[in-house]
Amino acid sequence: MDTIKVLLARILPDTGAELLRAAGFSVTTWNEDRPMSQEELIENTKKHNALFCTITEKLDKRFFSKCSHLDIISQFAVGYDNIDVEEATRLGIPIGHTPDVLSEATADIAFGLMIATSRKFLHLHKKILKGQWSYFRPTADLGIEITNKTLGIFGLGRIGSEMAKRCIGAYNMKVIYHNRKPNPKAEKELNAEYVDFTTLLAKSDVLSVHCALNSNSQGVFDKDAFKQMKPTSIFINTSRGSVHNEKDLIEALQSGTIWGAGLDVTNPEPILPDNPLLEMDNVTVLPHIGSANKETRDKMAVIAANNIIEFYKNKRVPHVINPKAIREK
Ligand code: GLV
Repeated sequence: MDTIKVLLARILPDTGAELLRAAGFSVTTWNEDRPMSQEELIENTKKHNALFCTITEKLDKRFFSKCSHLDIISQFAVGYDNIDVEEATRLGIPIGHTPDVLSEATADIAFGLMIATSRKFLHLHKKILKGQWSYFRPTADLGIEITNKTLGIFGLGRIGSEMAKRCIGAYNMKVIYHNRKPNPKAEKELNAEYVDFTTLLAKSDVLSVHCALNSNSQGVFDKDAFKQMKPTSIFINTSRGSVHNEKDLIEALQSGTIWGAGLDVTNPEPILPDNPLLEMDNVTVLPHIGSANKETRDKMAVIAANNIIEFYKNKRVPHVINPKAIREK
């Protein structure tokens, strides 16, 4: 197996590279702490059989036109909207990804954003830094109560279920959700109620987005959607920034159409430092850190490495996005 060359497109946890090396692969790592430009990515990928990448690598039609030789792509993430899956499948290139292991860590971030936003953590921290904490003020800096309120989940899958569990356990929240298809297992476990999108918007006190980004979810949270939400509601997004329209979100917050927002994802990423969202009292923004704890990232690297190892050993990819690509080989 020592002739098989794997390119690690980013500096990734050692657990993945170690497994690959132990299995006899020749591993090259891009050692700069930045994503490659697409030209650099193409030039480097050309010299390898397999690509281990993440959400910062744009694998579009142009990439595939130059790198159709690839045997497999292993994505170090659960989401894969950076990859033209249809084109990879057409070329017979399977794509692995890393679901499940990051659900709890990502739900922690959604849950943390909900609390931080409802009580204005970041804004108040910034005030202290500016020397603006003078004394206890009974009617200032008031947040919003969460206990016994309604949590609306847009995209109730693995991560959404973990968010719901936290909100039920900590705050006795009632859970409603909207998916393309109902999720009976989650309904049973979480006592969650399936509602249409309009009801989700109208009834949620906290609306948390956990769907994948695709043509159905792109830009779904726009001016019209925010208008249907409660003026006391909090919008949380830990999935992908393109699921909301950022200009419409800013307007909804500025006009009081909704009360607050907690975002781990923005559009574009990185968010520019002069974005008005960063100056608002009721907004918390994080730099896309949903899965960023040591244990989770280690587990993701192991899964991503195993997707490659199993492919070459047994012609199977344990966590595959496009199984059709393997059958066609
Ligand atoms: C991160 O955003 C992921 O999709 O894993």
